[in-house]
Amino acid sequence: SRMPSLAACYNLMDFEAVARQVMKKTAWAYYSSGADDEITMRENHAAFHKIWFRPRILVDVEHIDMSTTMLGTKCSIPFYVTATALGKLGHPEGEVVLTKAAHRHNVVQMIPTLASCSFDEIVDAKQGDQVQWLQLYVNKDREITRKIVEHAEKRGCKGLFITVDAPQLGRREKDMRSKFSDPGSNVQAGGDDIDRTQGAARAISSFIDPALSWKDIPWFKSITRMPIVLKGVQCVEDVLRAVEVGCDGVVLSNHGGRQLETARSGIEVLAEVMPALRERGWEKRIEVFVDGGVRRATDILKALCLGATGVGIGRPFLYAMSAYGIDGVDRAMQLLKDEMEMNMRLIGATSVADLNPSLLDTRGLLGG
Ligand code: FNR
Repeated sequence: SRMPSLAACYNLMDFEAVARQVMKKTAWAYYSSGADDEITMRENHAAFHKIWFRPRILVDVEHIDMSTTMLGTKCSIPFYVTATALGKLGHPEGEVVLTKAAHRHNVVQMIPTLASCSFDEIVDAKQGDQVQWLQLYVNKDREITRKIVEHAEKRGCKGLFITVDAPQLGRREKDMRSKFSDPGSNVQAGGDDIDRTQGAARAISSFIDPALSWKDIPWFKSITRMPIVLKGVQCVEDVLRAVEVGCDGVVLSNHGGRQLETARSGIEVLAEVMPALRERGWEKRIEVFVDGGVRRATDILKALCLGATGVGIGRPFLYAMSAYGIDGVDRAMQLLKDEMEMNMRLIGATSVADLNPSLLDTRGLLGG
């Protein structure tokens, strides 16, 4: 066949190129699309290129330790598999492929509310003390939401990520054009109300409650002991408010550029957020994660130098899974680990604790 061998994938972008060729058109359209003109989607990755390194020399970098702790979980490297809906569009086994690859690398997986596999299938696929978090879309019917949350906690999930950037799903035109209909999906929540004629995004949007507000956060705290993280925070004011209402974390994210078009990149928001937290002495009160456009270990390093606890990666693992299954995701993760080790050596940092803002030149990002 014309399919390039897995060994010919040298970086995460290579998986995207292969996936584009081999995936079903509808699946490619759903995974790859962003909102409107996809300006934010492109900016997510491009923003990392506005930051340059200021490496330190003559540091003994023989031994590199890239492990870290996220929400109390020790991880081999500071990234996690973020939640992406409808895994079976890309691979017949769906999200459990990601679960198995994450286990091989001691990486955390965030389980999407709108997975193709059932929640229990994804939890059953985990091995040993592997850690999973739950991404939550909040249903109008709070009893449904309560059951989802309580069940996730009972099944051992170690974090609750409430998606707050999607009161209505963005307009992903590529996806709409492909006229989605998906027999393999687990999207039953909206029952027969789901309109599948306008793409996958439209089909799942009927699940989400647009009335969700800050007033609901105490309720979440009352129904679970899992750490609560708001996923999709986009400015410093809301990070400060998240601290005040007792959230354990935030994900600075624009949903992979799939929601508000011309929203800023997560990395740019991070540069705004961390100084404000440090000014108040609050930087230990909340864990700050970033996702969107992370494709290289240098991207991960830049986020950590600015003060992020970890980063989420979405599409690259979907593409690796769709093209090559578990071995593809495995290789994508290994490539990131190899890049990480090399780049930590080259900037003169032997551990995550060594990463700090002085290793960066952010004038290009902050100056405009
Ligand atoms: C997503 N994302 C997402 N987020 C969420 O909270 N719930 C969801 O169901 C989904 N579904 C979803 C599907 C697909 C196909 C994509 C690409 C993304 C957003 C996701 O968690 C994350 O914010 C972005 O994917 C990060 O950007 P990159 O790494 O894809 O560039």
